[in-house]
Amino acid sequence: MTTSYSARFQEVEAVRFYESNEYGSGSYSTAIWQLQRPVLERILTDFRRERKEPVRLLDFACGTGRVLASLEALVDSAEGIDISENMVAMARTK
Ligand SMILES: C[S@@+](CC[C@H](N)C(=O)[O-])C[C@H]1O[C@@H](n2cnc3c(N)ncnc32)[C@H](O)[C@@H]1O
Repeated sequence: MTTSYSARFQEVEAVRFYESNEYGSGSYSTAIWQLQRPVLERILTDFRRERKEPVRLLDFACGTGRVLASLEALVDSAEGIDISENMVAMARTK
């Protein structure tokens, strides 16, 4: 039986795996994230510089809050939404 994408991240064990293995120290995903992060930071910094109004960040499907936690200092407000309570519980810790 296959698990739908929206069901895949519901269980605590899936959240633990995502946080500790998928994005654990030395993982492939972490290596890619280290390349993506400065690019996102530059995009947001440029975006904010060009605007007078407050910049709000909405992270749809925020998961464990990895991206939100990295970028929140660069915006005026940052919010995340996700359908997994357990993913959101991890995001709240950050
Ligand atoms: C692979 S994780 C990615 C989390 C985060 N964006 C990141 O890059 O670390 C996918 C996330 O999408 C969420 N998700 C799946 N379907 C969704 C939907 N229809 N609405 C909101 N979130 C959803 C899951 O609960 C899960 O937290």
